[in-house]
Amino acid sequence: MQLAQILDKRKSCRAFLDRPVDPQLLRSIITKAARAPSNGNLQPWQIYIVTGTALASLKQTTKQLVDDKVPLQTPEYQVYPKPLKDVYDQRRQEIGEDLYRVLGIPREDKQKRRGQFAKNALMFNAPVGMFAYIDRSLSYGQWMDLGMYLQSVMLLCQGHGLATCAQGYWTFFHATVRQATGAPDDLMLACGMAIGFEDQDAPINKVRSSRAAVEDFAVFID
Ligand SMILES: Cc1cc2nc3c(=O)[nH]c(=O)nc-3n(C[C@H](O)[C@H](O)[C@H](O)COP(=O)(O)O)c2cc1C
Repeated sequence: MQLAQILDKRKSCRAFLDRPVDPQLLRSIITKAARAPSNGNLQPWQIYIVTGTALASLKQTTKQLVDDKVPLQTPEYQVYPKPLKDVYDQRRQEIGEDLYRVLGIPREDKQKRRGQFAKNALMFNAPVGMFAYIDRSLSYGQWMDLGMYLQSVMLLCQGHGLATCAQGYWTFFHATVRQATGAPDDLMLACGMAIGFEDQDAPINKVRSSRAAVEDFAVFID
C-alpha cells in the first residue's frame, strides 16, 4: 500500500476482534517507529507494551473502578485547556455525536453513553495495550516528538493490516496503569493506544471523522 493510502485509511478503531497480534510483528513496529524524527534527536518516547494476562488484569481492574463509580484520577497534565475555544469544542462535539449517532444512542441516554465511553477501559477488546510515557522534565518540543512517534506506530500498524486507537482515556487511570507498567515516577503517562485487528462488522468502525478544509488551517504564500 502506498503511504498516502495508509495515511488515508488509518482511523480510530473502537471495536477489535478477539485475535492476537504476532509478538514479533509488534516488536518490529515498536522498533521501526523510532525512526520518527525528534528535536535534537532526543527520542523522548518511553513505551510500554502490555498484552496477555497483564493486559487482562489491567482491563479488569479499570473496568471495576468504572463500574464502582470511583472518581477518575486527575490526569498528570492538562489534556484540554478549559475553556476550549469554540472552534475546537465544536469539532470535539461533532465526532462524539457522529459516534453516538451510528450506535443509535441519543444525547438524553446518559447511561448508554457512559457505557460506550467505558469501553475505553477494555481497550475496545484490543489484545495489545501500548502506553506512551514521557519524562516529566521535558517540554513542548518533546511532546511534539512523542506525537510523531505515535503516528509512526499507527501508520506502520495500518500498513501491516492492524488497527489502532490512541486513548487519552488512560490519563484518567494513570496510577492504575503505572501499577501494570511499573513505569518510574519521573515518567508521565501521555496516552494509551489500543492495537489489534479491526472488527469490520462493528457499526462504530464505520464512522469516518471529518476534517476542516485546507483553507481553514493552511496559508500558501508564493
Ligand atoms: C492523543 C489522542 C488521544 C485520543 N484519545 C481517545 C480516547 O481516549 N478514546 C477514543 O475513543 N478516541 C481517542 N482518540 C481518537 C480521536 O477521537 C480521533 O483521532 C479523532 O476523532 C479523529 O478520528 P480518526 O482517528 O478516526 O481519524 C484520541 C486521539 C489522539 C490523537
